[in-house]
Amino acid sequence: MDLVPSKAISDALFIVGLFLFVFIVIDLAIAAFRYGISATSSNKGMRAGVMSMVEKQINSKDTILYDAGAGWGGLCFALSRKFNNPVVGLEGGLAPWLLALARQKAQNNTHVTFKRTNIHKVQYENGSIIVAYLCMKGIQELYETLSKQDGHFVLISVAFAVNNIKYSTKHEAKDLWRTPIYIYNINGQNQKP
Ligand SMILES: C[S@@+](CC[C@H](N)C(=O)[O-])C[C@H]1O[C@@H](n2cnc3c(N)ncnc32)[C@H](O)[C@@H]1O
Repeated sequence: MDLVPSKAISDALFIVGLFLFVFIVIDLAIAAFRYGISATSSNKGMRAGVMSMVEKQINSKDTILYDAGAGWGGLCFALSRKFNNPVVGLEGGLAPWLLALARQKAQNNTHVTFKRTNIHKVQYENGSIIVAYLCMKGIQELYETLSKQDGHFVLISVAFAVNNIKYSTKHEAKDLWRTPIYIYNINGQNQKP
């Protein structure tokens, strides 16, 4: 008798799971196509490199740390564990943003906030540090976005350098590929160099 309802429930769960899976795959594909990079997480070596670079650049407990293109939020949580500063994760993809938000709520982590937005439409706080693990075109565009804003910014780029711009420091991550990490000091519009 009660075999029928339990089968109906398992069928319904299977269909919901399938829809969820298809939704996530489509959302990830759209975001990867739109932004030229998938929601791949940075590895342990990259994160350790980013942490040591941030540590050298941070000069106040109020300095905002952005992760421009936060993916599933892993780097933001790592930053919030090491520093007491506010951490803001910016992500355009719906599925990664939702998961990052769910993790933040589950941890009740008040240091981290996640915003679903295009990283080029954000007004970055003067004096902030912006970490980005993007594609080559993405980091170029982010540098241009920051240069047009009013303020001074530190941009930490994992993997890609900005074309024709001299970085202030270069670091090698201790991972298999010795991934380069570049630091740029950007004096945006109306800022004296
Ligand atoms: C390689 S993942 C980096 C994940 C995370 N920062 C980390 O280090 O683990 C890059 C993320 O940037 C996002 N992204 C790229 N360009 C973007 C843009 N213009 N606006 C919003 N998100 C963007 C992508 O959706 C992707 O999830």
